[in-house]
Amino acid sequence: MASASLVSSALKRLQGKVALVTGAASGIGECTARLFSKQGAKLVIADVQDELGRSVCRELDADDAHCSFVHCDVTAEEDVQNAVNTAVSKYGKLDIMFNNAGVIGAAKPNILDNEKSEFEKIISVNLVGPFLGTKHAARVMIPNRRGSIITTASVCSVIGGVASHAYTSSKHGVVGLMKNTAVELGQYGIRVNCVSPYVVATPLAKDFFKLDDDGVYRLYSNLKEALLKPEDVAQAALYLASDDSQYVSGHNLVVDGGFTVVNPGFCMFPQSV
Ligand SMILES: NC(=O)c1ccc[n+]([C@@H]2O[C@H](COP(=O)([O-])OP(=O)(O)OC[C@H]3O[C@@H](n4cnc5c(N)ncnc54)[C@H](O)[C@@H]3O)[C@@H](O)[C@H]2O)c1
Repeated sequence: MASASLVSSALKRLQGKVALVTGAASGIGECTARLFSKQGAKLVIADVQDELGRSVCRELDADDAHCSFVHCDVTAEEDVQNAVNTAVSKYGKLDIMFNNAGVIGAAKPNILDNEKSEFEKIISVNLVGPFLGTKHAARVMIPNRRGSIITTASVCSVIGGVASHAYTSSKHGVVGLMKNTAVELGQYGIRVNCVSPYVVATPLAKDFFKLDDDGVYRLYSNLKEALLKPEDVAQAALYLASDDSQYVSGHNLVVDGGFTVVNPGFCMFPQSV
């Protein structure tokens, strides 16, 4: 006969919860939406890529009972407000807000080639977007006195030199936003955290580094014998979304195989590419 602990570990980890995932038409967001759905969450998928977003949603739930797509440009407050309101009107509440949509822009290694407009666009999607997502999630979570807000940052939230000035600034910025809102919203039982991946072979990273999947996997990695996949980031987001992390708030969960804790230029242990 199965023991009580075996029975409870078989339960879905997001059963009864409602989640909103931005940037869920592709990459990490799509993968996380699939995992959240598998773990029992009702979902609102929000993205600017309507066709892709709708097809992810259809795959997860053909009859709209557990998954809805909303067109949402995270830089537009009315879109974010509408996405949050859709979660509440369709499924009764919002338990999990995953601010994941992001852009990286072009790799221009000289600051003199960096345009102000491009800098502002990246800050707008990657930092203003999570601000709006956090604000509107808080609006509906505060009355329920619970909730989990997660933002996808990056290893670029911890170190410099991996991506553009705009991207690195935006990812440092969301960690500041996360910490401040974790302090403010703790009084309402709302947890706020970030998940910070190293390079994952999604359209965003492949386009930025001009590499295919294999090329991405051949990039420097501290942890050998493992490849960072969107599923690994989704699992980290699932932990932060679920009650398994019920006392974790104000945390930046780095998923990088130790990349950000070593300086390979000055290290007493053997380093191989
Ligand atoms: N792939 C990586 O190596 C990596 C590493 C660290 C962090 N990240 C972060 O992960 C997140 C997801 O990126 P990904 O790698 O899955 O890329 P992706 O390009 O596969 O997915 C990003 C999604 O965001 C959507 N999006 C872009 N602008 C939007 C907007 N204004 N409003 C709504 N949706 C918008 C896109 O349509 C797309 O579906 C981003 O925040 C990115 O910065 C990625």
